[in-house]
Amino acid sequence: MPVYVFDAYGTLFDVHAAMARYRAACGPDADRFSDLWRTKQLEYTWTLTLAGEYRDFDTLTELALDFALARFPGVDKSLRGQLLDAYLTLDAYPDARATLEALKARGDKTAILTNGSPRMVNAAVEAARIGPLLDEVFSVDSVKMFKPRAEVYALVTTHFSIKPADVVFVSSNRWDVMGATKFGFRCLWINRASNPDEYPDAKPAAVLRDLKALLDFAA
Ligand code: LAC
Repeated sequence: MPVYVFDAYGTLFDVHAAMARYRAACGPDADRFSDLWRTKQLEYTWTLTLAGEYRDFDTLTELALDFALARFPGVDKSLRGQLLDAYLTLDAYPDARATLEALKARGDKTAILTNGSPRMVNAAVEAARIGPLLDEVFSVDSVKMFKPRAEVYALVTTHFSIKPADVVFVSSNRWDVMGATKFGFRCLWINRASNPDEYPDAKPAAVLRDLKALLDFAA
């Protein structure tokens, strides 16, 4: 029986939800500001890991927000604290809880594997009330390097003493699916936004529109 492992941000939790609550307050640049915040957050994980350095995801999220605020001076800087706090209570996508519940009802094992620090991800899991539906929450913080390093994906196989092929990995981040596929996981790419495909050498086992579709794939 496979273990179902989920990416957190963008897959179970809606990262743009943090912004949505403050969209009006952020003004006309709100969407571009939100995109840049997320883009810079991920860029810092990749560049630091390539450089052999590590700062936790809380810190990188904060640095990315400061860059985005500097780039869009029209966004009120006094929102900084509220935006960071909102990250700790992100909304889960509406289909996240139902999908996890269905997997648990079938007796499947479920986990999160995330770049997020334990503090961040535990707060989001608690806010979304999905803790009881997860067997494990793995954070890159224990290996001090970010996805898509193989050492990160190995946290799952080492913990459960299973082979990579015994893991169904679910992510909306195509680059994460690339790394996990190279590691040997069976990957489901959740392509909510109908983005064009990338990484032709690391194709997912399936491309799904949302998390609910996973239950058909997994049935
Ligand atoms: C995570 C980032 C990649 O949760 O969204 O690991």
